[in-house]
Amino acid sequence: MLCQCPKLTPLQSRLLASVSALALLALIYWSLSNPHFAYAAELAHDGTGQLREGEDHNWHRIREEGDGDDVVGLSRRETKDTQFQGNNIGTLFDISTGDLDIWEYPNRFLIEDPIGKGAGFPSQLEGKRVDNTRHPELRRRDVEERQSGTTIYISANTCRQPLWVGSGTQDASPPQLTLYVSNSAENKDLGPGGSDQQEYPFDGGFVNASVPNASGTWYVAVSAPDIPSNFSGFWNYEMAVSIDGYFHEAETEDPFLYLVDTDYNSALFVTDNLTEANASTEVYQKWLNLSAPFVMFAVNQNLTGFMGLENSFCGLETFVRNNSQIQGSQADLQGNSTHVQMGMITRGLGQKPKEQFYVTGLNDSSQYMAFLAMNGNSTASGDGVVGGGGKVWGTGVDFQTKRDGNCQLLFNLTFCEEVAYAVPANPQNTDFSNFADLQRFYENFTTTWYSPFNYTLAQVPCNTTSDAQYSLAKNCTDCAAAYKEWLCAVSIPRCEDFSNTAPYLQPRNVGQQFYNNGSMLDEIFLNSQYIPMPDAPTIDGSIAFRQTYISSFATNQSRNAEIDSTIQPGPYKEVLPCEDLCYSLMQSCPASMQFACPYPGRGLEASYGKRSSTGEVTCSYLGAYYYQNDAVRVGGVLMKAVVGALVAAMLV
Ligand SMILES: *[C@@H]1O[C@H](CO)[C@@H](O)[C@H](O)[C@H]1NC(C)=O
Ligand SMILES: *[C@@H]1O[C@H](CO)[C@@H](O)[C@H](O)[C@H]1NC(C)=O
Ligand SMILES: *[C@@H]1O[C@H](CO)[C@@H](O)[C@H](O)[C@H]1NC(C)=O
Ligand SMILES: *[C@@H]1O[C@H](CO)[C@@H](O)[C@H](O)[C@H]1NC(C)=O
Ligand SMILES: *[C@@H]1O[C@H](CO)[C@@H](O)[C@H](O)[C@H]1NC(C)=O
Ligand SMILES: *[C@@H]1O[C@H](CO)[C@@H](O)[C@H](O)[C@H]1NC(C)=O
Ligand SMILES: *[C@@H]1O[C@H](CO)[C@@H](O)[C@H](O)[C@H]1NC(C)=O
Ligand SMILES: *[C@@H]1O[C@H](CO)[C@@H](O)[C@H](O)[C@H]1NC(C)=O
Ligand SMILES: *[C@@H]1O[C@H](CO)[C@@H](O)[C@H](O)[C@H]1NC(C)=O
Ligand SMILES: *[C@@H]1O[C@H](CO)[C@@H](O)[C@H](O)[C@H]1NC(C)=O
Ligand SMILES: *[C@@H]1O[C@H](CO)[C@@H](O)[C@H](O)[C@H]1NC(C)=O
Ligand SMILES: *[C@@H]1O[C@H](CO)[C@@H](O)[C@H](O)[C@H]1NC(C)=O
Repeated sequence: MLCQCPKLTPLQSRLLASVSALALLALIYWSLSNPHFAYAAELAHDGTGQLREGEDHNWHRIREEGDGDDVVGLSRRETKDTQFQGNNIGTLFDISTGDLDIWEYPNRFLIEDPIGKGAGFPSQLEGKRVDNTRHPELRRRDVEERQSGTTIYISANTCRQPLWVGSGTQDASPPQLTLYVSNSAENKDLGPGGSDQQEYPFDGGFVNASVPNASGTWYVAVSAPDIPSNFSGFWNYEMAVSIDGYFHEAETEDPFLYLVDTDYNSALFVTDNLTEANASTEVYQKWLNLSAPFVMFAVNQNLTGFMGLENSFCGLETFVRNNSQIQGSQADLQGNSTHVQMGMITRGLGQKPKEQFYVTGLNDSSQYMAFLAMNGNSTASGDGVVGGGGKVWGTGVDFQTKRDGNCQLLFNLTFCEEVAYAVPANPQNTDFSNFADLQRFYENFTTTWYSPFNYTLAQVPCNTTSDAQYSLAKNCTDCAAAYKEWLCAVSIPRCEDFSNTAPYLQPRNVGQQFYNNGSMLDEIFLNSQYIPMPDAPTIDGSIAFRQTYISSFATNQSRNAEIDSTIQPGPYKEVLPCEDLCYSLMQSCPASMQFACPYPGRGLEASYGKRSSTGEVTCSYLGAYYYQNDAVRVGGVLMKAVVGALVAAMLV
């Protein structure tokens, strides 16, 4: 259940939808008996965040407060008094520019018995930024506070905000609301120019504040700022208080989500490790047994209206729904939507539990923003649940879908189970047009090539006493693992658009026609000089310096030539396997197997890539993912900006 709106019975809905006189009666009925009378006002709007003309917006009891002259810069000031309806209840409220809502929290809610948070996750999430609230010493302080008095947890989410009506592209979010919390009980003099209060501006549509050791009746207020002329409309926010914990949450520093790879219409994400515990532990198994505890949102960045709602579950959820963007929700597990496939995996470095999101139905060559989120407390949501308003990891992950259709995401392989990236494909080749066909092709290829190695390894005296082994440091298990990793990375190329100009990419299969229109690359390009081995001997007759893109093995073929002949993806670029995979193979296996890696300047550069420390995946290794740091944006942004010469080398 994603919408925290109150449920109307069919009869009530019909009543509301009928003639306006009846609807008005219904509204009055609700404002007397229903905690969610604010929802009635919500229903009066047309769902776009704009007020309908001639409609009275203020259903609430209004206390007129002069002409507002006392508040500089506010065009109009109306103060509405309202009351919280209880703990852990999200109440929707509209607010227009210049208005102030004053909320009363009566003492009877403060002295209620806490309902408790529920079991929580098998372990606390750590991530890059350790959550201080989870530290044992801080938790102890919580308990002490509880003993000496009750803490009021106040939080709110902006669900809707004024819309851009200016000319040109929206370049900033509309201004944010502000929360005011009194420093003492009974104080109602809140808002701009008020006294004895703390001011908390909303950030990305989210705000929280707490009042420790409270007693008596408390007031908080929300005020709406003036808006520039290039925005129009009002805000709708969801407000909640609790004595158990925050109803809404936001993590504003750590996206807790990683991009694994994209193709032209889908993207693959994983969460950070959900625990660092070892596989044998109970915590590890408990995590794996959960069914998709997190959800996610993906928004095309050309829909600028989500700016300013990044930290708000309600805001993102509403925006995504109204703009037909991508939403992975618990409902997907029941098959109601097929845009996000979610599941728990252990794939990747360290083999720790994480949740995977396979997002489909994206537009090509588009810039998106992905947000990890939690619907309510993950197992329950809405009113009556501590944390029922949900949580967002508002930093988000910036990503771009690919342009050409000949790279397609592949994962879920049986043998190369660690493979999860885009591979060369051809959506118009009917034998390989779906996920399962492509899976079968690469699966068959790798297992076929593993068996001669496996046979050879069986001839090596592995299981002897250690001094009879081929190496003191490495054994056959290591060799088999190194070979498998190398084989998977080398025979299942990590694919990028041919049009991508990142310098670390190796063009492949340049002589084949494009899969979609039968055209070929430009003759001039194909016949231009390509120097595969800059350090090769320069004596006359060396082929190293006489090559062109069309004549070099390194550029006119895939390393796995069956890809070219069977799948026929056309020209593409490869993120080369990391060179350390080759060195590891050399070092782990018996010398008798004669594995050797090419030398720098003599073929290494056309076969293997180097890892980068900037968060980009500049070479392919199993379990790779993009990560963001201050310097790097993931996906195409950086790649587009980098115009580099192609590295010239020859495949060895
Ligand atoms: C969510 O809340 C429900 C009801 O309060 C509770 O039973 C459940 O254990 C909570 N889930 C988590 C993960 O804490
Ligand atoms: C909001 O919640 C976070 C996480 O629970 C907490 O660290 C932070 O101090 C809260 N902010 C305020 C103003 O209470
Ligand atoms: C909590 O409030 C009570 C009275 O309102 C006061 O006696 C007590 O010292 C306060 N405790 C703390 C830790 O502030
Ligand atoms: C929108 O209006 C504000 C204030 O009037 C102004 O500073 C800003 O430049 C405007 N933005 C655009 C894109 O016109
Ligand atoms: C996991 O096991 C390894 C050894 O098997 C040990 O070194 C490591 O500390 C363990 N990690 C945790 C988090 O228990
Ligand atoms: C998970 O943990 C492993 C080590 O246990 C680490 O290498 C990796 O970077 C962590 N994060 C992700 C997203 O895999
Ligand atoms: C946003 O981009 C998509 C393609 O990615 C396009 O179909 C859509 O029309 C664009 N919308 C706006 C508002 O520019
Ligand atoms: C991947 O495997 C999981 C578990 O076996 C399955 O639920 C999911 O549908 C598979 N995804 C694809 C795209 O094949
Ligand atoms: C599997 O691969 C081998 C060699 O790569 C090929 O001869 C065979 O036809 C393939 N089988 C299938 C079912 O694709
Ligand atoms: C490798 O050979 C061993 C027997 O020597 C066999 O048990 C194992 O299944 C083989 N592995 C693969 C992946 O074929
Ligand atoms: C060596 O022995 C281990 C178990 O003792 C077995 O799993 C492995 O397959 C053996 N390796 C070879 C090459 O026989
Ligand atoms: C091979 O060596 C690794 C440590 O490098 C060890 O964990 C493993 O048990 C060894 N395998 C065999 C079959 O001896």
